[in-house]
Amino acid sequence: MITVVGSVNLDFVASGRPLPRPGETVTGARLARHPGGKGANQALAARRLGADVRLVAAVGNDDMAEEALKLLRAAGVDLSATQYINGETTGVALIAVSQEGENQIIVCPGANAALDPGDVEGARIEHMMGVLEVPSATLLAAAERATGFVALNLAPAMPVPPELIARANLLIVNETEAAFYGDALHAPGRYVAISLGAAGAELWQDGQKIASAAPPPVTVVDTTGAGDTFSAALTVSLIKGKSPEDALTYAVAAGALACTKPGAQPSLPRRAEVEALLKG
Ligand code: RIB
Repeated sequence: MITVVGSVNLDFVASGRPLPRPGETVTGARLARHPGGKGANQALAARRLGADVRLVAAVGNDDMAEEALKLLRAAGVDLSATQYINGETTGVALIAVSQEGENQIIVCPGANAALDPGDVEGARIEHMMGVLEVPSATLLAAAERATGFVALNLAPAMPVPPELIARANLLIVNETEAAFYGDALHAPGRYVAISLGAAGAELWQDGQKIASAAPPPVTVVDTTGAGDTFSAALTVSLIKGKSPEDALTYAVAAGALACTKPGAQPSLPRRAEVEALLKG
């Protein structure tokens, strides 16, 4: 069982027009709303790739909560540790997606910011995945209880308690985040995965690059959720005992597939789709 400690958002997506520059108004976009949040996306991605998953998270006691949790519930993610918090709104992400599939995201955390270390007290946690859209004190409390593999997606980049980083078996960052954390990412035995967008990803261990993978060719529609899919696929594969090379190749292919459909959660691939893409 993998316990994901992370965010749940409802994503409001404006797509099909150039991304605005500061101070600019862009009109003519299409509007859609999808379940999202880095924690929820990674929980659903891991589930669709075959893992048993529990999500520790918080939503508001409002109209958006059930919409945000709908696909997780349908996929069989265990939501018994997901709380409804009175007086908070469900997290919201405002997302602009360009014609090229690139995005800009601004998150209003709402209830995600109220996920408290006390919320993991007494929890039995084997493997864990965490993202930084919830308080790092809560991630630390969960990581201290974890008896198995701990993966942290250090997104979005922000200062994190060193004890939390120290407990991680796997840290996952993009290039911007890798530059933010620098050498603090590396420690003996720990895996560090760096996603490189269209160029694929690298896996490091003990300060050495041990694997790299390029994505299979796909038509990019929307990159939202690709990083979350990559994180979940890599974690699930390493927990399963795949070699670092195979795990990275699988994760890069899964991330590429998530770029082929609009929205975060609607685009997360199933295991069979990833295997089919890898078989060519
Ligand atoms: O990684 C993509 C996610 O980031 C979106 O679903 C959005 O909710 C933000 O958390």
